[in-house]
This record gives sequence, C-alpha cells and structure tokens, in this order.
Amino acid sequence: MRQKGHIFDVLVILVFLFSVSTITKASESKDGFKRCEHIVKQWASSSLDSEVKDDKHVLQNLLFFLHVPRTGGRTYFHCFLKKLYASSLECPRSYDKLRIDPRKPKCRLLVTHDDYSMMSKLPKDETSVVTILRNPIDRVFSAYEFSIEVAARFLVHPNLTSATKMSGRLRSKNTISTLDIWPWKYLVPWMREDLFARREARKQNGHSVATSTNPYDMEEMVMPLHEYINNPIARDILHNGATFQVAGLTNNSYLTEAHDVRHCVLKYQTLGDYVLKVAKKRLDDMLYVGLTDNHKESATMFANVVGTQAISQFTGSTSHGDHAAKNNSEQSSSLIESDFDANYHQSNSSYQNSSQISSAERGEATKENMTAGKLMDAYESCISNLRKIQSERRVKSLKKISPVNFTKEGRLQVSEALLQEITSSNSLDVELYKYAQTIFANQHKRMLQNKIVTEQLDSWFDDSYSAYSWESISIAIAIAMLFVLLFAVLFVTAKRRKLKLKL
Ligand SMILES: *[C@@H]1O[C@H](CO)[C@@H](O)[C@H](O)[C@H]1NC(C)=O
Ligand SMILES: *[C@@H]1O[C@H](CO)[C@@H](O)[C@H](O)[C@H]1NC(C)=O
Ligand SMILES: *[C@@H]1O[C@H](CO)[C@@H](O)[C@H](O)[C@H]1NC(C)=O
Ligand SMILES: *[C@@H]1O[C@H](CO)[C@@H](O)[C@H](O)[C@H]1NC(C)=O
Ligand SMILES: *[C@@H]1O[C@H](CO)[C@@H](O)[C@H](O)[C@H]1NC(C)=O
Ligand SMILES: *[C@@H]1O[C@H](CO)[C@@H](O)[C@H](O)[C@H]1NC(C)=O
Ligand SMILES: *[C@@H]1O[C@H](CO)[C@@H](O)[C@H](O)[C@H]1NC(C)=O
Repeated sequence: MRQKGHIFDVLVILVFLFSVSTITKASESKDGFKRCEHIVKQWASSSLDSEVKDDKHVLQNLLFFLHVPRTGGRTYFHCFLKKLYASSLECPRSYDKLRIDPRKPKCRLLVTHDDYSMMSKLPKDETSVVTILRNPIDRVFSAYEFSIEVAARFLVHPNLTSATKMSGRLRSKNTISTLDIWPWKYLVPWMREDLFARREARKQNGHSVATSTNPYDMEEMVMPLHEYINNPIARDILHNGATFQVAGLTNNSYLTEAHDVRHCVLKYQTLGDYVLKVAKKRLDDMLYVGLTDNHKESATMFANVVGTQAISQFTGSTSHGDHAAKNNSEQSSSLIESDFDANYHQSNSSYQNSSQISSAERGEATKENMTAGKLMDAYESCISNLRKIQSERRVKSLKKISPVNFTKEGRLQVSEALLQEITSSNSLDVELYKYAQTIFANQHKRMLQNKIVTEQLDSWFDDSYSAYSWESISIAIAIAMLFVLLFAVLFVTAKRRKLKLKL
C-alpha cells in the first residue's frame, strides 16, 4: 500500500513539474515572440518611412544593379551594362568582392550580390536601383544545380585537401573566383566537401552505378535536392533569398540589426509579412524590375528604360568600353562613331528636357526604333555567345558526376510533394514574385504609352501637322459661316416684322 502511495506521489510531482515546465516554455516563447515582433516592427517602420522618390523613372548618376543570384543578372551585366558603361565608370571590384568601397570618384555602375542595405553606403538621391526576379522554384533549382556544377569542377583532384589547396592558390591570385562571391562562398565549399565524401564512400563500398534515374535524387553521387533544401545552410541563405536581399536582410547585410530581424522572421513566420511589405516598397521605388522568366520582354524593357537613358547620359561609351563619359558639347560628333544611335530619346519630357530637342533630332525620330534595335541586337549576339560558353562549361563539369545530368526531362521526375515543399519554404519569394509581375506589367504599359506619345509628337512635327491645322481652320470657318447665316435669317425676319408693324 505504502509503495503504491509513493508511486502516486511521484507521479503527481512529475505531472506537476511537467506542466510547470511547459507553462514556462510557453510563456518564454510568448516573450520571444513579443521581443521579435518589436524588433521586426521597429526595423520595418524605419525602413518604410523614407520618402518615395518622385523621379524614380529617371536614371540617376549611379546605377546599383541589385543582383539576386541565379536570375540571369550576369548576362545583363556583360551584354548590356558593359556595353553602356565604360569600364572606367564601374565601381571598383563591384563583382568579385563584397564589402567594397563604392566611393571611387566618377564611379557610376555597381553590380553586386550585396543586398539593399548597400544603399546605406551610397548617395541615396543620386542612385537608381534595378533588379531582376525569378520564379522561386526555378531559382532554387538553379542554385542547387549551380553549386553542384561549380563544386564538381574540383573533382579533378585526388582528394578534398588538394582541391581546397588549389582553390586557395587561385584566390590568392588577382582573379575573380565564384568562391569569393556570396552566397557561393558558402554553397560551393559545402557541396565540394559533400561530393568528395560521396566519392570516398563509393570507393569504399565498391558500388559504382546509381540506383536512381532521377538526377535530383542520386544520393550515391550528389546530395539529393530534398536534403539540400532542408539543410540549415539553405535555410540561412537560399529560401526567400530574393525577399531578404531586396529587404536588405541577408546574412551578408550591412545593417547591424539585420541578423536579429532575420532570425526572428525565420523563427516566427507571421513576421514575414513585415519583410514582404518593405521588399515590395523597395521594388516600387526601383527604376526597373525585370523577370528572368519573361526574358525577351525584360531585355527589351531594359534596353528602353535603362539603356536609352544611359546612352543619352554618356553617348561616348561604346561597346569598346574605353571612352569616358562624353561632354554634352562633344555629343554630336561622337554620335557618328558610336555603336548606338544616340538620337533615341524618350518622348516623356521628364526623361529629356524637351526644350533641348532640336528640329534636326525631331527629323531623325524615325531612327529611334533602329537604336533600341541595335542595342538589342548587340545584346542578343552577346548572350548567345555567353550561353554557349556557359553550357559547354556545364556539360564538362557535370561529366565528372555522370550519370547526374540536370535537364528539363530530369526535372519532370521531381515529385509534386517536393515542389510543394520548395514553394512553402519560399512563400515570401512567391508573394514578392507575384508583385514583381504586376510591376512589370505596369512598366510595360508605361513603355508602350511612351511609344505612342513619341509617334504623336512625330506626327505633329511633320507634314500632317499643317493638314491637321487646315482641317480645324475649315471647321472653324464653317461654324462661323453657320452663325453668320443664322444671324442673317434672324435679322431679316426681325426687319420684316418691323416692316409689317409700320404697314
Ligand atoms: C591528397 O592528395 C595529395 C596529392 O595527390 C597527396 O599528396 C595527399 O597525401 C593526399 N591526402 C590525403 C589525406 O589523402
Ligand atoms: C551566413 O550563412 C552561412 C551559411 O549558413 C554561414 O556559414 C555564415 O556564418 C553566415 N554568416 C553570418 C554573418 O551569419
Ligand atoms: C565638359 O567640358 C568643359 C569644357 O570643355 C569642362 O570644363 C567640363 O569639366 C567637362 N565636363 C565633363 C563632365 O567632363
Ligand atoms: C512622364 O513621366 C512622369 C514621371 O515619370 C510620369 O508621371 C508621367 O505620367 C509620364 N507621362 C507620360 C505621358 O507617360
Ligand atoms: C530645360 O532646359 C532649359 C534651358 O536649357 C532650362 O532653363 C530648364 O530649367 C530645363 N528644364 C528642366 C526640367 O531640366
Ligand atoms: C520597331 O522594332 C520592333 C521590334 O524591334 C518591330 O517589331 C517593329 O516593327 C519596328 N517598327 C518599325 C516602324 O520599324
Ligand atoms: C546532359 O544533357 C545534355 C542535354 O540533354 C547533353 O548535351 C549532355 O551531353 C549530357 N551530359 C552528360 C554528361 O550526359
């Protein structure tokens, strides 16, 4: 009896202790949430209260290309921006090293994976920001494939030690390495280590052939996709990566409170709404937002929105890229030598002072299309070269982990459940991408409107102008004659009445 009583007491105490501990835990997490909510709200309100630029459609002195990884920004850099901006105008080491000093005099172009917090280092009123976003699922796939592709290049080495040594030697030279660039400086070494470990394991177990045909799930060769996306590193820098980068909250941020804010948002998902709100506002304030998935339209828009303004800013910087920005007075002579016809101008007077449009320029307005076309042609041939090089590199690199081959057909083997998991891990990016699509549609509308206005301006200034005036003059004369007739009739009838009275 006594023993049973003892056991009962112990049970009561255990139950009591258990409930106390859960209650404390609950209140702790409640406090944690309160604290986090405060931190995130504070950050959001200070980020949102900066006033909106009224001339956000005008290209400012400094162009900051906020390059979200795996959105194709690099082709814009090589095939548009390098053709528009002389290399002397590029901010120093804008691609190879983070934490750069952009205050190089005359530096006009900054292309980097740095997040939006970079703006704290830049002259805010003189900076235009542009970015490109991509469907989040495609971006995750691409990041996975790219980190494996780059890591696989190291498999030429007999072991990890010698591979790491070689990359150290490469980096000490003055070359740009993917391993210097965030986020690859984390993702590639991680995959490199993993590839070597799997190769070791294959050697020891002696089996050589993969049991799966799904390239995203060949664990003998590479880390399967489902494992990759659930790793803490991926959680740290991949998921919702675009939103965090646009909000300035990556783990690479300049903002001191960024890390607290990010950790809070990762812990309490509902706080993500604040981040989304800030990111959306930042997109609103940008000069240009492109979409990787609407490649052709995005490139055309870039040529029209950013390209033409850059051309009119410094007409001398041709694709040879060695001319400095030209003076206004030199512009007309350099036009002829330029690869790009600088007579292209936006019809919207906010882009160019309309009082400066000379009659000669007006006469050449029909060439406008050719100009945008030329820029696009240069871009098209540039990207086809770049893509060829990239695809050769990729094939060569993936050969080292054959039979793994990331193809469109391979993607079809990825389960719906896994896709769903990627989507829900990237819910902020999904929302931001939707928002970017509406911005893109509005940009497109604005561009078309500008084109229509241009055409109207053209028609006013050519022969049809006088035809139009004569037409209006004849209408006016016709109306005037009608009035005269009416008055004459009234006058005559009135006179007749008077006559009748007299009679
Ligand atoms: C790695 O490879 C290098 C070069 O072949 C060799 O000298 C070294 O002993 C190897 N290290 C290990 C741990 O196997
Ligand atoms: C950023 O994320 C990587 C990968 O998880 C991590 O190794 C690194 O320490 C993080 N940096 C900061 C400043 O949190
Ligand atoms: C433009 O030319 C004038 C005189 O030729 C010179 O004083 C001025 O500094 C130049 N401006 C630029 C931006 O080069
Ligand atoms: C011209 O640009 C301004 C500022 O970007 C904009 O508010 C205005 O609607 C544009 N006008 C036309 C006709 O597109
Ligand atoms: C347009 O140019 C004229 C003369 O060059 C100048 O007086 C005027 O302020 C300029 N307007 C704008 C909006 O730049
Ligand atoms: C202007 O260029 C676009 C595409 O580059 C083309 O579709 C259009 O026909 C051109 N318009 C004229 C008038 O040449
Ligand atoms: C992978 O697929 C691509 C296109 O489907 C093909 O060109 C390439 O040769 C393949 N690579 C390997 C290693 O099988």
